[in-house]
Amino acid sequence: MSEYIKVTTLSALREGQGRSFTVDGRDLAVFLLEGQVYAVENLCPHQHIPVLAEGQLEGFVLTCPMHGWQFDLVTGRSVNGSSRLTQFEVRIEAEDVLVALPSGEEASWW
Ligand code: FES
Repeated sequence: MSEYIKVTTLSALREGQGRSFTVDGRDLAVFLLEGQVYAVENLCPHQHIPVLAEGQLEGFVLTCPMHGWQFDLVTGRSVNGSSRLTQFEVRIEAEDVLVALPSGEEASWW
């Protein structure tokens, strides 16, 4: 079961750039791309370093600033490997950006 939690507002995001937010103890990377908001865990699957919000975007491909691993932000899949990002559903309510985070017992094993 997931619970939608307000993370930020649309006006706080910049097209084509990431921002990190800590919500409920989780480090999220949130991106605004072509009017859509994408939320993933900020940890790069390579070395579990919280840097993805600082990654470079080329189209929908996100490049980790540490060692250049690349991910498709829409699918969450690695462009040239088998790893993938942890994605979160996003809901927009008026100006607010809400992200679905696991709640209750489900959250304890995250
Ligand atoms: S930590 Fe992201 S590519 Fe190495």
